[in-house]
Amino acid sequence: MNEFRKHVIRGLSGRPKKLSSRYFYDERGDALFQRIMKLEEYYLPEFEMDIIRNQSEDIASLLASATKRLKVIELGAGDGSKIQHLLKSFSTFIPELEYVPLDISENILLKNKANLNEFLPQVQVQPVAGDYFQTYPEVVREKACRLVLFMGSNIGNYLLSEAIDFVRKLSAGLDEHDYILIAFDLVKDPRKILKAYDDSAGVTRAFNLNLLLRINRELGGNFDLDKFEHFPTYNPSTGITTSFLISQEKQECQLGTGETFYFEAYESIQTEVSKKYFREEISYLAQESALQISRWFYNQDGSYAFVLFEK
Ligand code: AVJ
Repeated sequence: MNEFRKHVIRGLSGRPKKLSSRYFYDERGDALFQRIMKLEEYYLPEFEMDIIRNQSEDIASLLASATKRLKVIELGAGDGSKIQHLLKSFSTFIPELEYVPLDISENILLKNKANLNEFLPQVQVQPVAGDYFQTYPEVVREKACRLVLFMGSNIGNYLLSEAIDFVRKLSAGLDEHDYILIAFDLVKDPRKILKAYDDSAGVTRAFNLNLLLRINRELGGNFDLDKFEHFPTYNPSTGITTSFLISQEKQECQLGTGETFYFEAYESIQTEVSKKYFREEISYLAQESALQISRWFYNQDGSYAFVLFEK
């Protein structure tokens, strides 16, 4: 049985009902996420670009003081357009630079390589397609000073304990004095956070509902999208944004293979967690994964950070 089907059956049979955000990203989900990144209310890409624009040289010179040969491994690299400027700074400070973008999509990696070859012909690009949980161990094996990049606040999809596990796994493949650079969205005005996941144009709503559309399309489901609503929440004491789909009435929904799921009126499906970090939690994460924090790099208002960890 395919992995998605297994996941849906398990997630919708128990209570509370729960699906993983990793299944958001089919072709339509990718396109909707691209639209989210252009929304005024979705501040994350702008904050990230702010750091890349203003602090790439500082990051590069810090690394250059440690090594003349660097292999940059990016998890979930996409088309690489966002970090071109960072790599450009690296290339002016570090003579031997290699860039290894990892992504599930072979197609986007071809774009990534083409873009970079044009923009920075002196940098070697060696894309590796596949699930980075599978490809990462292969990629880190080769010797060189390594910098693992995890951008886009993708760490936000993990709760603190899961983030610790994840970073430990990344670190296990590295040697002493290798680096990990992670982008964290930090706690900020709760209203600003909530709006980012509840935009007025309804793009995030469509993105969330797309999970049901994907179930209909790939698993022969009969979910009526008009009978579910997008409902994001933010808890300022934990820093956790949680998104739900709420069944608007009592109903039954089925997969093509006959499995039936029962919903009470206003029963929820949890579909995504987006954690906003407290600085103290990041220090704890470093401690628990036996990494040193080399430096914090902040955006203008100090509510988004790149944290450079050294093993
Ligand atoms: C890709 C995980 C960073 O949590 O902000 C955007 C995904 N979900 N809007 C995030 C997302 C709803 C995004 N990350």
